[in-house]
Amino acid sequence: MQVFETINALQKELSQLNSKSIGLVPTMGALHRGHLSLMNQSLEDNDITVVSVFVNPTQFNDKNDLEKYPRTLDKDTQLVNSLGVDYVFAPTVEEMYPEPDTRVFNYSPQDEVMEGIYRPGHFNGMCQIVSKLFSIVQPTRAYFGEKDYQQLVIVKRMVEDLKLDIEVVGCPIVREKDGLALSSRNALLSKEERENALLISKTLFESLKLAANYSLKETLSFVKNTIQQNDNLELQYFEIVDANTLLPLEEWEDSSSIIGCITVFCGAVRLIDNIKYKG
Ligand code: PAF
Repeated sequence: MQVFETINALQKELSQLNSKSIGLVPTMGALHRGHLSLMNQSLEDNDITVVSVFVNPTQFNDKNDLEKYPRTLDKDTQLVNSLGVDYVFAPTVEEMYPEPDTRVFNYSPQDEVMEGIYRPGHFNGMCQIVSKLFSIVQPTRAYFGEKDYQQLVIVKRMVEDLKLDIEVVGCPIVREKDGLALSSRNALLSKEERENALLISKTLFESLKLAANYSLKETLSFVKNTIQQNDNLELQYFEIVDANTLLPLEEWEDSSSIIGCITVFCGAVRLIDNIKYKG
C-alpha cells in the first residue's frame, strides 16, 4: 500500500493504471468497522481502492468540533494496509485548499432540512471536498455510509448535477453488538455517556416495531418523548421523512420510501443515527 500526500503524486500513479476500475472511499480518518465495511465493498467491486483521509475544515461550522475531531493517521494507515487497500490519500489542508474554495453548492430541499438547519454550510463544505476528491481520483465508484443518510442523498444529487460518471454506493450502517451505530465520534464518549447513547438505537428499533400499529405522528412522538425523558441526552431533532426528498411526512401512506433521522447530544458529543421504516 502506498500513502500519498500530494495530488500530483497520486494522479501520476493513478494515470499509469489505464482502464482499471477505481473505488474511492472518502473518510475523515479515525477509522472504525463502519469504514472497513465501505473499504471491503470497494475492494470487492473494483480493481483498485483509494481511501482518502482528510479532516475537511470547510464542512465544520463549529471550530471546537473541528479541533476536537479525532486524528489517528498512523493507526488508520495500518488498518487500511491490513485490508489490502492499494492507496491512501492523506493531503494537508494547504494541498487541498491552496486558495479558499468559494464554490457554492445548492441542493434544496435536501440540504436545507435536518443537518442543514443545525450545521449551516456543512453540506456546502462536504460537496466542496467530495467534488475535489472526485476530480482528483476520477473513481468508477465511490462509497458512503448510510449512517450519514442526508450526506449520501446530497452526494447522489451532486453527481447527477455535475454529470459525473461515478456510481455512488451507499453501504448499510454498522452497529456495535448493543446497537450503537459506529461513528468516529464514539471515541469521544465517556463510559457513562456511551451507556446513555444506547437509548438512541434502542428507541429507533422500538419505533420500527411500533410503526406497524401506530400512526406516523404517534411514532414520531414516541421517539421524541423517549429521548427527551432522559436527562443525559439532548434531542436536536427527530424527523420522519421521505427517503428521497428528505421532507417531513404526515402519514405512512404519503411515501413508499420512509426514513427516520435523529441527532442527539450525549454530553458534548453529537451523535446521528437513522432507521428505515419503508422502502
Ligand atoms: O462522511 C465523512 O466522513 C465526510 O463527510 C466525507 C464524506 C469524508 C467528506 O469529508
